[in-house]
Amino acid sequence: MRLAIVGNGKMGRAVAELAAERGHVVHAIIGREENASGAALTRERLAGVDAAIEFTRPDAVVTNLERLIEAGVPTVTGTTGWGTELPRIARLVEARRGALLHAANFSVGVHLFLRAARDLAARFAGRPEFDSFILEEHHAAKVDASGTAAALRRSLREADPAREFPITSVRAGSIPGTHVVTYDGPHDTVALSHVARSRRGFAAGAVAAAEWLPGRPGVHDFEEMLFGGAG
Ligand SMILES: NC(=O)c1ccc[n+]([C@@H]2O[C@H](COP(=O)([O-])OP(=O)(O)OC[C@H]3O[C@@H](n4cnc5c(N)ncnc54)[C@H](OP(=O)(O)O)[C@@H]3O)[C@@H](O)[C@H]2O)c1
Repeated sequence: MRLAIVGNGKMGRAVAELAAERGHVVHAIIGREENASGAALTRERLAGVDAAIEFTRPDAVVTNLERLIEAGVPTVTGTTGWGTELPRIARLVEARRGALLHAANFSVGVHLFLRAARDLAARFAGRPEFDSFILEEHHAAKVDASGTAAALRRSLREADPAREFPITSVRAGSIPGTHVVTYDGPHDTVALSHVARSRRGFAAGAVAAAEWLPGRPGVHDFEEMLFGGAG
């Protein structure tokens, strides 16, 4: 496949490396300097591209998606922090018969972890002697809250709506991403954790999504790709 990568940061570079290893052609890596207000995302610049992979910033992603969809390019985005704009972007995708796949987390392990967390929450439901909480840890440069922690909380509350599952965040060092749900009782502690060891897992998921997306119009998420939308 011929892929355009939007965003030349930590994830953009990891995706470019993974894509090349998987035998794809990296058509362009488009960074911020040439892309003010999505200016580089034109039909001409993207001619021949099968899919775009976007990893930028919360303040840039929505314009980038608008431009990519208008240009008719199936787009995968992993940028976080723009969920409130999703309904508007979804209407644009529909109007243009475009294809978009978004995920706050492209790790296969995380999505299995979310399902395991839901099962765990069902087991602990109705046991008030255990307190529960979520801890998420990321590198110091992460600017927004963890979308994965929010997804984890939603999964847990689906199984046990009576609990709040408060989230504590740590921003320090170079941590690629750690999420832990803990149940702490008077005599023991139970914890389920997912620890990302590097960004390559996220990059591999994003490249797999770009391989899956062309020919599938509409708005999709990674769960749907992995599990076919089954609950
Ligand atoms: N879904 C997942 O699995 C996953 C995994 C990791 C991270 N993320 C998310 O992905 C996003 C990127 O993460 P990262 O670690 O790669 O961050 P990063 O290292 O800060 O990279 C972001 C890059 O986007 C560039 N940029 C800003 N505006 C742009 C524009 N209009 N066009 C093109 N590039 C632009 C930035 O350039 P400047 O530095 O010049 O501003 C920077 O190089 C964040 O939202 C993060 O939370 C998601």
